[in-house]
Amino acid sequence: MNESANFSNIHKFYDFINSLTTLGFDKSWRKQAADKLNPGNVLDLGSGTGASYSDLKNFDVTALDPDEQMLSLNNFEKKIVGKGEELPFNENSFDNVLCCFVWRNVDDTEKALSEVYRVLKPGGKFILLDMTRPKNTFYKLIHKIGTYILLHFVGLITLNLKEYRFLYKSLDFYPQPEVHLTKNNYTNLVIERIGLFDFVYLGVYTK
Ligand SMILES: C[S@@+](CC[C@H](N)C(=O)[O-])C[C@H]1O[C@@H](n2cnc3c(N)ncnc32)[C@H](O)[C@@H]1O
Repeated sequence: MNESANFSNIHKFYDFINSLTTLGFDKSWRKQAADKLNPGNVLDLGSGTGASYSDLKNFDVTALDPDEQMLSLNNFEKKIVGKGEELPFNENSFDNVLCCFVWRNVDDTEKALSEVYRVLKPGGKFILLDMTRPKNTFYKLIHKIGTYILLHFVGLITLNLKEYRFLYKSLDFYPQPEVHLTKNNYTNLVIERIGLFDFVYLGVYTK
């Protein structure tokens, strides 16, 4: 991907804006993702400000993100600066990898998928939550118009048009997850659609 969002610019109001642009549903989607976790430890990949903190209270969590500014607001005890494409962990280190609203920002998803596989223990889960476009053509059109207006409006009022333009455009970077997500070496991959018009997906890979 040639473009990317600079989350440092928006880190202070990221959580607020995220709730606004998802009408508050982001919290329940993160909870649905966390409910799929195996017992044990968790790598929160692209943890950002640690929005999954309350869902992961009973887990031993390592938060990883390339953006130090986002991590500075993150309450997890173990925080590491790093990228999904080059995970600084030994193989078979984690029972789970959780990745919420990050995948569209990852430059090399194939590499990140292999890296996640490497650091997961056998039987471990990779839980991937992100937004896409609805499958239905009519809903897709409505979603395109709605997200165009909302994200450009938020970009304008926060003086971060570039970042929010990226978030709008990134919804079309990849084909639908049912086409784009590959099982790779994983033994199993289940993809569920959630959210209004099914524009959010929850992928669960098992190593
Ligand atoms: C939209 S935020 C999501 C944060 C959090 N996971 C959440 O649920 O709100 C995307 C995060 O992905 C991080 N990110 C961008 N590229 C990444 C990469 N290649 N590997 C891991 N994280 C990345 C960004 O720095 C940012 O903090």
